[in-house]
Amino acid sequence: KMRIGVLTGGGDCPGLNPAIRGIVMRALDYGDEVIGLKYGWAGLIKADTMPLSLDIVEDILEVGGTILGSSRTNPFKKEEDVQKCIENFKKLNLDALIAIGGEDTLGVASKFSKLGLPMIGVPKTIDKDLEETDYTLGFDTAVEVVVDAIKRLRDTARSHARVIVVEIMGRHAGWLALYGGLAGGADYILIPEVEPNLEDLYNHIRKLYARGRNHAVVAIAEGVQLPGFTYQKGQEGMVDAFGHIRLGGVGNVLAEEIQKNLGIETRAVILSHLQRGGSPSIRDRIMGLLLGKKAVDLVHEGKSGLFVAVKGNDLVPVDITLIEGKTKNVDPEFYESVKTFFNK
Ligand code: F6P
Repeated sequence: KMRIGVLTGGGDCPGLNPAIRGIVMRALDYGDEVIGLKYGWAGLIKADTMPLSLDIVEDILEVGGTILGSSRTNPFKKEEDVQKCIENFKKLNLDALIAIGGEDTLGVASKFSKLGLPMIGVPKTIDKDLEETDYTLGFDTAVEVVVDAIKRLRDTARSHARVIVVEIMGRHAGWLALYGGLAGGADYILIPEVEPNLEDLYNHIRKLYARGRNHAVVAIAEGVQLPGFTYQKGQEGMVDAFGHIRLGGVGNVLAEEIQKNLGIETRAVILSHLQRGGSPSIRDRIMGLLLGKKAVDLVHEGKSGLFVAVKGNDLVPVDITLIEGKTKNVDPEFYESVKTFFNK
């Protein structure tokens, strides 16, 4: 019988609660005890915990966010926090810790496993920018949010004969904007992986209007850098307490440019954290359960320093060090190949 710690770190997303449920339910098969660490790595630094029993997790499948809370706290920013984590790991009598997170959270798990603490990772991020895995928890639900938003925006854009620019999260990757834009039928999509060509965008909108359209919906990923615009300096300067560059706002700039260059009334909508909330999709629920279960099985095999990657339909344990400091981006060739759906 083991005592297993669980935490959710980084930006929250739908699917975290199903993963927590998967972990607790599988742990019960082994007769293990599961302890939740609250607000990500901050929970280990402060030994801030909550018990995770069957009655606590039973009804959380459909609940968005994370019952454990989350934060972007990274103990490796301060040597004393690293020591506190190591001490608390022992004090809490943990045999292993399962960290559910993106590159930052799993990167911390990787470092702790190198220091000898047994760690297993579960991948999540609405950005889908994690290396070594085809799937991350939360992306699927976030795409649904984007698709729904585009549908609603198209209604009002049509009524008012406007262009609406919708800015989509994703940090430095364009997965969410591209998949959401394609599935929602956006009229044009801009992602950080491909240099923006505003003339091409303007020409495309002109073409739409020439064939009788009275509106357009343009999707832009928050990480797109529009060359020649002064906001870029401000954006680079907007670094938060943990050193993250605060993105967001590029949609406003693009809307203004479209209005100026085409003379069409334009509005911008920044979807922002709406994309992180809501009930997890069916896929994110099922995958959460399965990833959680697999993580517990790996703990029982005595494994550490691995995260449960998804490759095709398989759950594959992968060396967690392989994702440290990396971002998985959209292949520009793929973008070019799907442009056929938004250049008519
Ligand atoms: O990584 C997930 C994400 O939602 C990004 O898409 C976005 O840039 C960032 O987190 C926002 O972070 P915060 O919740 O700290 O504002």
